[in-house]
Amino acid sequence: MTIFFAILFTVATLVLVVGLGLKIARYARTPAPLKIPTTPAPLTAPGVAFRLAREAVVFESLFKANKPLWIFAALFHFGLAVVLLRHVRYFETQVGPVIALIQPFAVPAGLAMLAGLLALLARRFVIERVRYITGPSDILMLVLLLGITVTGMMMTNHVHTDVVAVKAFFTGLLAFELRPLPADPLLIVHLLLVAALMIVFPFSKLLHAPGLFFSPTRNQTDTPRERRHLCDWAAKLEEKVN
Ligand code: HEM
Ligand code: HEM
Repeated sequence: MTIFFAILFTVATLVLVVGLGLKIARYARTPAPLKIPTTPAPLTAPGVAFRLAREAVVFESLFKANKPLWIFAALFHFGLAVVLLRHVRYFETQVGPVIALIQPFAVPAGLAMLAGLLALLARRFVIERVRYITGPSDILMLVLLLGITVTGMMMTNHVHTDVVAVKAFFTGLLAFELRPLPADPLLIVHLLLVAALMIVFPFSKLLHAPGLFFSPTRNQTDTPRERRHLCDWAAKLEEKVN
C-alpha cells in the first residue's frame, strides 16, 4: 500500500506540475489581438495587478454580478484556502508560525467548504437555466471535492488517523524515502480522491484558477488612446511589411 501510494502521488504530482506548466505556457503565448478591458479599467500596470488581486481574493466581478453565487463560491473557496494552508504541515518538517496559527480552524473551514459545495451542487439541479448548461464534468468536480471534504472532516472530527505517520510518509516522499502510510480506510479514500483531483486538474474547469490571470478583459490597461496595442504576431507582421 505504501509503495502504491508513493507511486500514485509521484505520478499525480508530475501530471499536475507538468500539465499545469504546459497549460500556463500556452495561455501566456496565446495572442490577445484586441484591447478589450472591461471598463472602468485601471490605466497602469500596478492598477491591473490590484484589479487581478481583487478578483482572485474577493471575486469582485462575481460579487457585482450574482450575490447568492458569490456567497456560496466564497464559502467554498475561503474554506478551501484555510484547509490547504492547514495541510502544509504534512509537507514541511518545521511548521511555520502562520500554519501553526490557523490549526484551530479545521472545523469552521471544513464546514464552510461543505456548505459551499452542497449549495453549488444544489444550484446545478434546482435552477432551470443552470441545469440546462450543466455537463457531467461540472457535477463530477463538485462530487469529487465533496468526497475529499467529507472524508477529511470525518478524520478530523470522528475517526482519527495517525497524522504523525501521514506527515512522515509525505516528508519521506519529498526526500525520496519510503516510510509506512497508515492503512485507515478513510485516509485511503481521502488520498485516492486527492490524487484523482491532482490528475484531472490540468484538463478540467479547475484551470479557472490560473486562467483568471490571463483573461484579457481583466488583465489589460485601459490605454487604447495613449498606446497602440499589438499582439506578438501582428507586431511581427507589421515589422515585415515595413
Ligand atoms: C485563484 C484561485 C481561484 C479563483 C479566483 C476562483 C474563482 C472562482 C469563482 C469566481 C467561481 C464561481 C464562478 C461561476 O460559477 O461563475 C469558481 C467556481 C469554482 N471553483 Fe474556483 N477559484 C479558484 C481556485 C479554485 C481551486 C483551487 C479549486 C479546486 C481545487 C476551485 C474549484 C471550483 C469549483 C469546483 C467551482 C465550480 C462551482 C460550480 O460552478 O458549480 N477553484 N471559482
Ligand atoms: C496529499 C494531500 C493530502 C493529505 C496527505 C491529506 C491528509 C489529511 C488528513 C490526515 C486529514 C485529517 C486531519 C486531522 O485528523 O487533523 C485531512 C483533513 C482534511 N482534508 Fe486532507 N489531505 C490532503 C489533501 C487535501 C485536499 C487537496 C483537500 C481539499 C480539496 C483536503 C481536504 C481536507 C478537509 C476539508 C479536511 C478536514 C478539515 C481539516 O482538517 O483541515 N485534503 N486531510
